[in-house]
Amino acid sequence: MKREATYRFRLLFASAWLALIPAVSFAADSANAAKAAYLQYCSACHGEGGKGDGVVSQLMRPKPTDLTVLAKENNGEFPFAKVMASIDGRQTLRAHGDPNMPVWGEIFKADTGASMAGEGAIRGKVLLITDHLKSIQQK
Ligand code: HEC
Repeated sequence: MKREATYRFRLLFASAWLALIPAVSFAADSANAAKAAYLQYCSACHGEGGKGDGVVSQLMRPKPTDLTVLAKENNGEFPFAKVMASIDGRQTLRAHGDPNMPVWGEIFKADTGASMAGEGAIRGKVLLITDHLKSIQQK
């Protein structure tokens, strides 16, 4: 009787782990994808760690924003929607031509096409990168 209970417990324990593996690796994949997208599109100016010290930042006026203090400067709350809008840039003043920070909504649109599905892909990409920024905020 006792042995069977142990066996059942082990089985339960093992299946709990098995159930967990896809969830954990999915989270890791999406964090990696978010970081990869950030490094690809943003790090030249904002720096690998987001502190505004990318390789071309030295030459830029105004300097690229330190992206690790967005929460700090907003009473400790990461302004997710605002950051998304500001990266996209199509709904902000930048849409009318601030050459310093690219209008990513337009660039991603050119990558993905202008269809409804394309709009979803643009938002998805911006969301992914915003998630990465959220993860690098200074306390
Ligand atoms: C060509 C250089 C360059 C690249 C590449 C770049 N940025 Fe910027 N970014 C800037 C500059 C310069 C500013 C500051 C603009 C200003 O102060 O007027 C800025 C500002 C910002 C801001 C703050 C905007 C605000 O409203 O205060 C955010 C957020 C941001 N960038 C995110 C990103 C993300 C995410 C990427 C990658 C998808 C990216 N940037 C790529 C140059 C760049």
